[in-house]
Amino acid sequence: MIRQIILHPDTRLRTKCEPVANITDERRRLAADMLETMYAAPGIGLAASQLGVMERLIVMDCIKPDENNPQPTIMFNPQIISRSDETFSYEEGCLSLPEQFAEVCRPTEVEVSWINEGGNPVERSFDGLWAICVQHEVDHLDGKLFIDYLTPVRRQIITRKMKKMKRELDRG
Ligand code: NI
Repeated sequence: MIRQIILHPDTRLRTKCEPVANITDERRRLAADMLETMYAAPGIGLAASQLGVMERLIVMDCIKPDENNPQPTIMFNPQIISRSDETFSYEEGCLSLPEQFAEVCRPTEVEVSWINEGGNPVERSFDGLWAICVQHEVDHLDGKLFIDYLTPVRRQIITRKMKKMKRELDRG
């Protein structure tokens, strides 16, 4: 089921999410809804808080749509356990801030631990687009958005545009 994505500004996007205690069928269904919502948007990552569920759950798939081998990835309680010193800039966007993009500088490589949909612990390192995406999504779980890496002025400009967009969409 495709669900509505919360748009910035919204206090739910600024709230730290709670760890998931156990992987229930309900949570697996939520993860499936998140993937469906993400693919439909279309996007490459989504955090549960963007659908108003304040739990530490993210989904991602950074394979290009034309590559035809989807890699839907579900992470409960993801944690970035190490970051490379090397960083790089990439123009990021966010499904909660449609049409807004900005260069963000992040570590090039990260090591991540999480619980998968089967309830098993996983540890893996990511680079390229996957590394950017997982850092962006874990930020969401801590109430952080990519615009927080920009100057206050730039952030205000984007927030003002988003408020206008939400008024036009009659969503706040
Ligand atoms: Ni986002």
